[in-house]
Amino acid sequence: MELRGTWIPDGVALDKPSPARIYDYWLGGYHNFEADRIVGEQVKAVYEDTVPATYVARALLRRMVRFLVEEGIEQFLDFGSGLPTLGNVHETAQAINPAVRVVYTDVDPVAVTHGQIILADNPNAIYLSADVSKADQIIEDLRVREFLDFDRPIAALFLAVLHFIATDDKAYQVVRAVRDGLAPGSYVAISHMTLENAPAEILKQMQQLYANQSIPTAMRTRDQILQFFDGLELVEPGVVYSPQWRPEGPDDILFDQPERAIVYAGMGWKP
Ligand SMILES: C[S@@+](CC[C@H](N)C(=O)[O-])C[C@H]1O[C@@H](n2cnc3c(N)ncnc32)[C@H](O)[C@@H]1O
Repeated sequence: MELRGTWIPDGVALDKPSPARIYDYWLGGYHNFEADRIVGEQVKAVYEDTVPATYVARALLRRMVRFLVEEGIEQFLDFGSGLPTLGNVHETAQAINPAVRVVYTDVDPVAVTHGQIILADNPNAIYLSADVSKADQIIEDLRVREFLDFDRPIAALFLAVLHFIATDDKAYQVVRAVRDGLAPGSYVAISHMTLENAPAEILKQMQQLYANQSIPTAMRTRDQILQFFDGLELVEPGVVYSPQWRPEGPDDILFDQPERAIVYAGMGWKP
């Protein structure tokens, strides 16, 4: 039997896998349960680069946040934040500018509860339970409005979350609503899973695996991902495989074989 820690809210079904906790498992975290670890292992069996790709995702998050703070961004609205593992948005951003304010959101109750515990003493970061598919409501939420000034630039982060919105129209609508709600000078950062260049068999098996667990997913192509940036100016180097987005150097994970990360990344600036 699992012991229930303070970070496990009442009512959480420990036997139902969740993307946030599977991701935590791949990252070597310990906020996950048997059901998460089983699916985590099944995905690894289908796609052997799963763990390095997950580390690439966290490194991308750090590079993007650092870039944004250096561009003068002082406010972040993060959708599908996950468990606040090391090197999260507020840690990276506030190390450069302690005044940076961050709103984290996620649907996973463990991620939200654990996030709230970690941030209890941080006056400049909050963690809210919210569904990214209702992003139009999130940006109108009074708690968000009290925390962030929508008359000034905000960086909206959709990192490794839009592929959990299975319907294309809905996914585009979400990003559009946020883009329209932000002040000029704001940014929208996106990373998105793709199996564009992966063997069809892997694509099929991966989708089947998530479907078996009732986790909706849509792996999109680069062209489909480019459409998220309509109405925005793409920041250099555009939409590329995640290890290629402003890499730190040749020692970066998967630097030489970026397509193995199976994730595209891009950032748009609102004129
Ligand atoms: C792969 S993790 C990414 C975490 C973090 N953004 C990063 O890039 O490291 C995906 C996160 O999206 C969250 N998620 C999935 N569907 C969601 C939804 N409809 N609304 C909000 N968050 C969602 C999951 O709970 C999980 O924490």
